[in-house]
Amino acid sequence: MTDKRTIVRSVGGYLPARIMTNEELAKTVDTSDEWIVQRTGIRERHIAAEGENTSDLATAAGRKAMENAGLTIADIDLIIVATTTPDMTFPATATLVQHKLGMHHGMAFDIQAVCSGFVYAMTTADSFIKTGLARRALVIGAETFSRLLDWTDRGTCVLFGDGAGAAIVELADKDTDAKRGILASALRSDGQHWNKLYVDGGPSSTMSVGHVRMEGKEVFKHAVGMITDVVYSVLETSGYTVADLDWFVPHQANKRIIDGAGVKLGIPPEKVVITVDRHANTSAASVPLALATAVADGRIKRGDLVMLEAMGGGFTWGATLIRW
Ligand code: UT7
Repeated sequence: MTDKRTIVRSVGGYLPARIMTNEELAKTVDTSDEWIVQRTGIRERHIAAEGENTSDLATAAGRKAMENAGLTIADIDLIIVATTTPDMTFPATATLVQHKLGMHHGMAFDIQAVCSGFVYAMTTADSFIKTGLARRALVIGAETFSRLLDWTDRGTCVLFGDGAGAAIVELADKDTDAKRGILASALRSDGQHWNKLYVDGGPSSTMSVGHVRMEGKEVFKHAVGMITDVVYSVLETSGYTVADLDWFVPHQANKRIIDGAGVKLGIPPEKVVITVDRHANTSAASVPLALATAVADGRIKRGDLVMLEAMGGGFTWGATLIRW
């Protein structure tokens, strides 16, 4: 084990300007504000403008995180973008973000773990930093899920939205950062569940993009168990208990799933950050968007113990414990 530690220096979020409410959706599909709010907690979602791509959202969130840290792109040597909705099949959206930010050094690549992408990307950045492959990383979760939706399928189109969130992580300074940093992470996947939540297209299978398909009830059934599994695993590795947590920042897919996980783990609702009402499920962007909100409004403060968690297509799932 290395005594090196990775700290989170700053976070930032970006949501496209256009808001689509439940009422607006109810004009085009057989649904209602009441059903969506009751079953999911979602009230509205943001939709990227025509010509506004995942790399644009990612770049905006990345700029915000750099601004909040007082850093420029010269200070970053790794960009990881977690996304399921890349601008193009290749190159990696991270390289487009690198170009838009004017970075010509270091490295940039994408991670595809759907809704768990940000937790996977943070864990990857943490490993790169601890092994000395990178010194400071811009980790972004960014999605334009609206482009993958079948807008006639009420079972999926009401659930997702577009957005991006970013974090800057760097090697801790032994003197000034004392106990701060990423304390433990757990990542899991089980591909036997691939067809419960997937996109029915791709370059190799159909030579097209496809649409989101989901067996909602099946995903729901597995979600709480998977979330609690990784949260307990991270607590065990780090030696902390649920009672030590100051904040629980879960993947924002459905408020009922978040509430179910909170109850099962015994985390009081006032310690749970909820933003799903305002931006729906933004896949890899949901955890960093929730983090950015709770840091900006002063809830998450230096020294707080923060548990991140996500689960999604694959299935993939994971959790990360951070001393802020
Ligand atoms: O990142 C992970 C990604 N995904 C998730 O986390 C999603 C997990 N699943 C869910 O969140 C929930 O299963 C849903 C929100 C998708 C659905 O909630 P549910 O309580 O499991 O509802 P259901 O699928 O059992 O459907 C209940 C009823 C059905 O009608 P009948 O068969 O009872 O007549 C559906 O056809 O609700 C109907 N329904 C809708 N009604 C109005 C399904 N979608 C809608 C809708 N508006 N948008």
